Amino acid sequence: MKVLIADKFEQSGVARLRELGADVTVDPDLKDDALRDAMARTGCKVLIVRSTRVTEAMFAGAPELAMVIRAGSGFDTIDTAAAAAKGVRVCNCPGMNSVAVAELTLGMMIALDRRIVDQSVDLRRGVWNKKEYGKARGLKGRTLGVVGLGRIGYAVAKRAAAFDMKLIYADEFAMPEREKELGIAKVSFGELLKEADFITLHVPGGAGTKHLIGQDELASMKSTAFLINCSRGGIIDQSALADAVKAGTVGGAALDVFENEPGAADKEFSDPVVQVDHIYGTHHVGASTDQAQSAVADEAVRIVSGFMKSGEFLNCVN
Ligand code: MLT
Repeated sequence: MKVLIADKFEQSGVARLRELGADVTVDPDLKDDALRDAMARTGCKVLIVRSTRVTEAMFAGAPELAMVIRAGSGFDTIDTAAAAAKGVRVCNCPGMNSVAVAELTLGMMIALDRRIVDQSVDLRRGVWNKKEYGKARGLKGRTLGVVGLGRIGYAVAKRAAAFDMKLIYADEFAMPEREKELGIAKVSFGELLKEADFITLHVPGGAGTKHLIGQDELASMKSTAFLINCSRGGIIDQSALADAVKAGTVGGAALDVFENEPGAADKEFSDPVVQVDHIYGTHHVGASTDQAQSAVADEAVRIVSGFMKSGEFLNCVN
């Protein structure tokens, strides 16, 4: 079976796919037309991607393609409807990187409260400023609002409980077991925005959550509130966020994801939001720990193996 891997993928996973008997081509730099051509040229039956976009045009030239595996949880980078129309199944690897994303989220909360990035930049410039940086408010007793208490939101809340934070969440589903286990209370989205000292977003991207946090939502937050986004870029109206932080109506933000994010192979990125004081950024690396990537690769191999052995499509999302 021909498998094309068009993204960064664990070497151990590639080796195991070959052990299964798959004919694997790896080219992590493929994207756009080059990816479309490679899909047509290799005649791949399975395509494995991470950040690389998979569009409708690519399916047209790949008649052998049966399955696209998203080596991660979110699948908003893949046109799942166009895939379904061509009879191509899209499968993902949910839950494998939840802890990694949660760890980055907690890191961002502490970094925002303690202004770790600014402090470090000042030290590199030869500036000592204990007076300015000695004003952190601390996490204990502060309210953490988790938007979306799925696998990642839950992993964040579980860790924040160890910091003795007050936990609230907003989600379309009630989760009584998680409420009991963590002492987390369900509130409306509007209440969460008003009450939380830290707000962390863990909802899928796409049309349904586009600009979930916009000007009005930012206006209803506490002026000291910190907003953290390790899910998908389009969920926040970045220009409204930049304005709110500049105006001091929101305390700050940390973003691992952006509205116009480059692909994995791109080397440049410029966005006004990352130039704003009190907004920290990372390079969409929430899921990027060795542990998480090896778990994702294991899951992708399990999906390919299931398909090779019995033709089943594990974790199919379309
Ligand atoms: C995910 O959706 O699981 C992450 O965005 C994965 C990634 O960074 O590749």
